[in-house]
Amino acid sequence: MRRLELVRTRLTRVARSAARRRYVGDVDSISDVRSRHPDFEAIEDRIRGAGTDDLDYFAYGYTHEGGLALQQNPTEFAALILHLREDRPHRTYMEIGSASGGACSLLSQEVGFETVLSLDDGRHPRAAEQEANFSRVPGLKRFVGDSHSAEARVFLAQNVEHPLDIAFIDGDHSFRGVWQDLGLSLEFCRPGSFVVLHDTVACSGVERAWLQAVRKQILKPVAEFIGEPKPLGIAVGVVPV
Ligand SMILES: C[S@@+](CC[C@H](N)C(=O)[O-])C[C@H]1O[C@@H](n2cnc3c(N)ncnc32)[C@H](O)[C@@H]1O
Repeated sequence: MRRLELVRTRLTRVARSAARRRYVGDVDSISDVRSRHPDFEAIEDRIRGAGTDDLDYFAYGYTHEGGLALQQNPTEFAALILHLREDRPHRTYMEIGSASGGACSLLSQEVGFETVLSLDDGRHPRAAEQEANFSRVPGLKRFVGDSHSAEARVFLAQNVEHPLDIAFIDGDHSFRGVWQDLGLSLEFCRPGSFVVLHDTVACSGVERAWLQAVRKQILKPVAEFIGEPKPLGIAVGVVPV
């Protein structure tokens, strides 16, 4: 029985990796970004020095637990920061799933946005830390609640003055949850907006949503940052014209 399960898991992995090669193809990678940016390591070090949620789980050489309490692979996050910087300026950034608010705060500092919209249900054990971390984010507007609720759409309708330049999706990691968050985000995007999906390798639901969005041409894949060891996976797609 266990053997059968192992074979099934292995086959699923092989099928997913083939789908990735087939649909996502040759997009911007960590090594591409690293080769364009001599300051790559300096940014990785800043991320590691900002602190993580959990030193055992996010075992990527963070200097301490706490601080911004990041839940990121520093190599993937550095690639994302530099990739987004290349297309500056970005006026409006929206994030679904903020946890401590630390990743949002760091992105705002490293990339720079005029308006930041956070949608988070406030259920993460570190949600109370949002207060301090968000105080450093200029132009912040917060929705505390379920991103799948009617109220979330009303919040965005009332607060998105200029279409989103970047939508970062890192909330409910089930396939249905990500798909709903993607649908909501797209209502407020424009052709050319970036949609970032977090955990495309670590979570099968996110991976399925990413591959399906690309296959259905809902997103044009431009980058996927898959760091070693223990990849989480950050995918970047663009809303097609
Ligand atoms: C993985 S954490 C986000 C990590 C954060 N982006 C970071 O990099 O530090 C997921 C967050 O999304 C929240 N969340 C999960 N499902 C949600 C939903 N349906 N609506 C809003 N927030 C949700 C969780 O409570 C948690 O705060």
